[in-house]
Amino acid sequence: LRGKYLGLIAGAGDEETLEALRVQAVGKKGEISLKMRELGRMSPEERQVAGPALNALKDEINAALAAKKAALADAALDERLRAEWLDVTLPGRAAARRGGTIHPISQVTEEVTAIFADMGFAVAEGPQIESDWYNFDALNIPGHHPSRQEMDTFYMHRAEGDDRPPHVLRTHTSPVQIRAMQKTGAPIRVIAPGRVYRADYDQTHTPMFHQVEGLAIDKDISMANLKWVLEEFCRAFFEVDDVELRFRASHFPFTEPSAEVDIRCSWEGGSLKIGEGDGWLEILGSGMVHPHVLRSGGIDPDQWQGFAFGMGIDRIAMLKYGIPDLRAFFDSDLRWLRHYGFSA
Ligand code: PHE
Repeated sequence: LRGKYLGLIAGAGDEETLEALRVQAVGKKGEISLKMRELGRMSPEERQVAGPALNALKDEINAALAAKKAALADAALDERLRAEWLDVTLPGRAAARRGGTIHPISQVTEEVTAIFADMGFAVAEGPQIESDWYNFDALNIPGHHPSRQEMDTFYMHRAEGDDRPPHVLRTHTSPVQIRAMQKTGAPIRVIAPGRVYRADYDQTHTPMFHQVEGLAIDKDISMANLKWVLEEFCRAFFEVDDVELRFRASHFPFTEPSAEVDIRCSWEGGSLKIGEGDGWLEILGSGMVHPHVLRSGGIDPDQWQGFAFGMGIDRIAMLKYGIPDLRAFFDSDLRWLRHYGFSA
């Protein structure tokens, strides 16, 4: 009996098995309990030997059961500790919350501003809601000019009975030329980045977009200075040593002569390369500031002259960073912003 039970107890794998063994051996109807009941039918001599032996056996089995139970509990605890082990020396995971990104338009505006700052251009500003005088008249755009037509220009409404000409959402950054001239006089060297508005909407036009105006006025400024400044800018902005610009004769009411400027590029394999190939892409309008415009700004055209240019920021951002659809700039789609955005 002793060998049988001590063996079974030692081999028990869990508490249930152990409990079953206890019932089987020392429970009320257990094997050892039944043996103890037989003591009554024994002779006193036999009982004196068998009694203490059975008691000792019962004690021994109870002790073995208790010891085994404690050992099983220990093993269970060890197992749990192993399973729940935590390496506190591991580096932390990247924060679950992602930070925002710099919008490509903001990024490009900063790049442009920095490049022109290196060439001595300060930043000038003007309002987005502009009087028609600053947006048109002062820039030598007469009342019958097509760009004044309702379809391009957003007009602000005047109150009933107010006959003054309505303000407009500026259609270009050129009115900042006039404001800058009035503010500082000549000589002057500024750029004016900002929002402009035209009633137009397709893959390459949005009703709000961005331009950067450039204006340099001094005693002897020529088209040659304009050419150098624009080439220098393109080299720095597109990060290519060989840029080639093409000046095409054009017409703007506020410059004379006027030129639209194209940059040499190729479209090999669907990707745009600036500075090589036999394609041309228009990037800006420019020219020598018209005498009427200098006068509007309070500057004497007999003493001073200058160049001006206006460039689409969204457009050069698309070119530099390979963004296909202008409208995506203003959709606020987070996936797009994370893809094309810049880390802060
Ligand atoms: N204002 C012109 C436009 O919006 C660009 C321009 C600016 C042209 C300055 C010449 C000089 O198209």
